[in-house]
Amino acid sequence: MSFTTQVLPLEKKSINLAASLLQDGEVVAIPTETVYGLAADALNEEAVEKIFVAKGRPQDNPLIVHVSNFAMLQQVVSEIYPNARALAEAFWPGPLTMILPKSSKVSSIVSAGLDTVGVRMPSHKGAREIISAAMTPLAAPSANLSGSPSPTTAQHVYDDMQGRIPLIIDGGSSSVGLESTVISLVGNPIVLRPGFITQNQIEEVLKCEVLLADAVTAPLKEGETAASPGMKYKHYSPKANIILVDGSIEEFAKYIEAQAEENLGTWALCFEEDVPFIKAPAITYGSKDNSTEQATALFGALRALDENGAKIVYARMPKQNDVGLAVYNRLLRAAAFQIVEL
Ligand code: TXA
Ligand code: MG
Repeated sequence: MSFTTQVLPLEKKSINLAASLLQDGEVVAIPTETVYGLAADALNEEAVEKIFVAKGRPQDNPLIVHVSNFAMLQQVVSEIYPNARALAEAFWPGPLTMILPKSSKVSSIVSAGLDTVGVRMPSHKGAREIISAAMTPLAAPSANLSGSPSPTTAQHVYDDMQGRIPLIIDGGSSSVGLESTVISLVGNPIVLRPGFITQNQIEEVLKCEVLLADAVTAPLKEGETAASPGMKYKHYSPKANIILVDGSIEEFAKYIEAQAEENLGTWALCFEEDVPFIKAPAITYGSKDNSTEQATALFGALRALDENGAKIVYARMPKQNDVGLAVYNRLLRAAAFQIVEL
């Protein structure tokens, strides 16, 4: 189906319009603090199917369900473990998704056939207002076309979803800029996707060891099944070929200068401090010691590279601790695990 896609600012009138479209089983793009989401009524199977169509998403990749209060949480999960309560108390509303056993109300289309469901309560006030106005939990993956970088502005969503959905609510730039931390609480707690809420922060609350899925930093081995199905897809990738480069700024500058002489369309994805050293077109993703800033800037930078016609992009290696691990995880996937060591 083809739509005239409206983009409306976040205000009472547009929240009500979003709510009525959602209640009618339509898909609406909504702002959240992490990235924009492509939302539909999580309890309406036909509505949820439309998300997969709009995104071009494989049916075996489950969706996250967004709630605005604990009554909604109880609708979608069959059990709230004590450690889930503790994490909700510490980090909700906020960028943490917990995997819990699903209730029978959540269709297997949302969970992609799993008996678990990912749930989160976003801290973006507008997101919570839309969920509350719709009076139903909302299933929402990131609002990008499957495979491309997640959208952190309404314009990014429009670029991908124009004609595919009726409405985008513009709630400004996403403050976090990377998708939520995903932690499975079914069995030993394990982080399936790193994000703004870090493994250390979670360990402090749970007072126990929290594991990190191998797939966060390594490609899946052949025949291996992913704990989080999303991990097996090439993700966050712009059209340009991205290659991560590990080395000092001096080594990087020399390397990219040589590459740029040979290949037109060579770009650098680097830190702000690097710009004076680099003799190739460059786009920055934050300051070198500021992982939070890098998180906010990364997806916009990846999209900007495509808009500028970049063909091959050499990216400076981010720090890999705390929020930096989330930045590294997304860049590693954008680069399809290609790393040059200098
Ligand atoms: O920040 C976010 O989480 C954003 C905003 C919109 O809330 N949403 C988002 O959704 O990133 P999506 O669908 O792009 O990513 C969901 C990830 C996928 O990697 C998926 O495989 C995993 O969470 N996931 C969802 N349900 C799961 C489940 N029951 N078990 C394991 N992994 C699950
Ligand atoms: Mg996504």
